[in-house]
Amino acid sequence: MAGSGLMLLGFVVLHLLGNLTIFLGPETLNAYAEKLRHFGLLLWVARVILLAAVAVHIWAAVVLTIENRRARPQPYQQYVPAATNPAALTMGLTGILLLSYLVYHLLHFTWGVAHPQFFGAQDALGRRDVYAMVVRSFEIPWVALLYVVGMAVLCFHLSHGMASTCQTLGLSTERTRPLFERIGGMIAGLIFLGYSAIPVAVLFRMVRP
Ligand code: HEM
Repeated sequence: MAGSGLMLLGFVVLHLLGNLTIFLGPETLNAYAEKLRHFGLLLWVARVILLAAVAVHIWAAVVLTIENRRARPQPYQQYVPAATNPAALTMGLTGILLLSYLVYHLLHFTWGVAHPQFFGAQDALGRRDVYAMVVRSFEIPWVALLYVVGMAVLCFHLSHGMASTCQTLGLSTERTRPLFERIGGMIAGLIFLGYSAIPVAVLFRMVRP
């Protein structure tokens, strides 16, 4: 769970850095997207690894949940968790919501099934106009809002996931756990701000077509 989670976190950070080039204008974002496409086989290898990481992460979550249930076949009469937090208690729910977000996101920007009117446009140099696709999409308030909500769910999931990873890797002790939780929360917060800045900037016309 921790290993696949770290790989997915790596993708989330790299994807964020790539997406933030939207603030440098259409030329930079479209050139970046075009460059990625030119990686050809390497891009497909990365996609297969990413997909495998998602599959392993889900499989580990299911196995852990089953093991936890088996460890206590008789339910608690009154369940009062000793030391935990809302993010830890809702990892399953936020995981399912994230997966739903990801399916919608791929239908939107990768497969062009959701909002097909913004898909397939080309810029003056004949490249895929990713900039126009993203900006036109986020001009629709409910789409922008949906992305911000998706990012909030991602942030919530990551905030516990990172502290939990430190625990699994044996880095965390009784004394350092609160520190890792705080650092995890801060990184998750930065990721939320970075991603959400994009739909919010479009909505407030700070990034224009
Ligand atoms: C404001 C937030 C986001 C924006 C604007 C955005 C933008 C995009 C765009 C434009 C693409 C298509 C790239 C292309 O085909 O050239 C894409 C693909 C993708 N995005 Fe995002 N993204 C966002 C958030 C996320 C998040 C949070 C995740 C993961 C949880 C994610 C996962 C992916 C994946 C897996 C792909 C497919 C990559 C591939 O085709 O190889 N995105 N995104």
